[in-house]
Amino acid sequence: MLKVLCVVGARPNFIKVAPLLKAMADFPGSIQPVLVNTGQHYDQEMVDYFFDDLDIPTPEVNLGVGSGSHAQQTARIMADFEPVCLEYSPDLVMVMGDVNSTLACSLVASKLGIKIAHIEAGLRSFDRSMPEEINREVTDLLADYLFTTCEDAGVNLCQQGIPESRIFFVGNVMIDSLLAYLDKAQRRPILNQIQLQPGNYALATLHRPSNVDDPEVLGELLDAFGIIQGGIKLVFPAHPRTIKNIERFGFEDRIKAMNNLTILPPQGYLDFLALMKSARFVLTDSGGLQEETTVLSVPCLTLRENTERPITISHGTNTLVGINKDKIISEAGRCLVGLPPSLITPPLWDGHASDRVVRTLLNIFGLVSSTGKTAAVC
Ligand code: UD1
Ligand code: UDP
Repeated sequence: MLKVLCVVGARPNFIKVAPLLKAMADFPGSIQPVLVNTGQHYDQEMVDYFFDDLDIPTPEVNLGVGSGSHAQQTARIMADFEPVCLEYSPDLVMVMGDVNSTLACSLVASKLGIKIAHIEAGLRSFDRSMPEEINREVTDLLADYLFTTCEDAGVNLCQQGIPESRIFFVGNVMIDSLLAYLDKAQRRPILNQIQLQPGNYALATLHRPSNVDDPEVLGELLDAFGIIQGGIKLVFPAHPRTIKNIERFGFEDRIKAMNNLTILPPQGYLDFLALMKSARFVLTDSGGLQEETTVLSVPCLTLRENTERPITISHGTNTLVGINKDKIISEAGRCLVGLPPSLITPPLWDGHASDRVVRTLLNIFGLVSSTGKTAAVC
């Protein structure tokens, strides 16, 4: 029996762990997942909505670490996760994505000699001013089994000296959730509730510190939103970090003056998926949204100078537009007149990535033969 501590903490982790837990449940005699929530995110709309929408079981362990500076948050997670590892003696710690919980738990597991599986390994923006880039690099160095969403991630890992034998190209677990829940999401009444017609609105999210912690940058982005909402209704479910900064910088009046902008609290997974699926285009700095819009064939304007997910540009609907107001406005204008992009889904973004992860692990640990669906190695 393979005992796996599955670590989650922040919103995108919940979406990734849901299909992995379901795939593990197909092998009840071989694999025993223990869900550990660090509590990096804690608001009802950042956590509970996702557990409900994605049918995630209640975590066996809650660390309740909450917010703090990077050092404080990372240190708290480490200090609280170490005794959990000692108590449960897992065969494997599974971490996902690039958040502080991912890094902190990888460090703890590594020092205790516990094997680590990293889901969504190898993504690189090559920009260390992004806290996530540091988390990605360190986690990948420590991980024993690196599961990638795309071939370029495997190339990045090889270039950083990670042996190819540790890399498994399995596809995208976040897309497993999207494909599993899309029909259910489309039955939600959210569009009617906020009086939206499919294709007649744009959807925005913002939460990167580089975009929302600096009043000049956030001000420029809001100026762009102000112009865009003059041409199409703009729906903006705002991250708590962004809401706090809008208040801190005194930008509430600018938002109120935008009559065609609807600012919402963070949305649950199903409602947000419904909003994304029917949007004319998306404006975002989110990593996950770049991938989801690619699969949904919705144009995505990424308000960043770089992306760790270039496959969403080469094989998807993503355009990097940066943070210059005029450029954002002109690209949004092109989305308003352009035809919807044709659908080219990246390889292995097919809804079965989690199954490949689990079968690969069972194979590595000698619990199932490698026949049947197995991972395609980088
Ligand atoms: C974190 C991740 C980021 C990820 C994002 C997903 C790191 C370094 N960053 O960023 O990679 O894209 O989650 O959403 O791990 N807050 C609340 N309620 C909550 C959570 C946060 O009010 O439930 C507020 C707090 O003021 C907090 C701030 O948001 O200080 C930032 O939260 P934090 O988890 O540190 O980073 P995120 O910006 O959410
Ligand atoms: N998301 C959501 N509700 C929202 C905003 C985002 O359900 O109000 C989902 C979105 O579909 C995606 C994930 O949250 O699956 C992305 O999380 P986020 O943008 O916070 O993090 P990132 O992907 O940038 O790390």
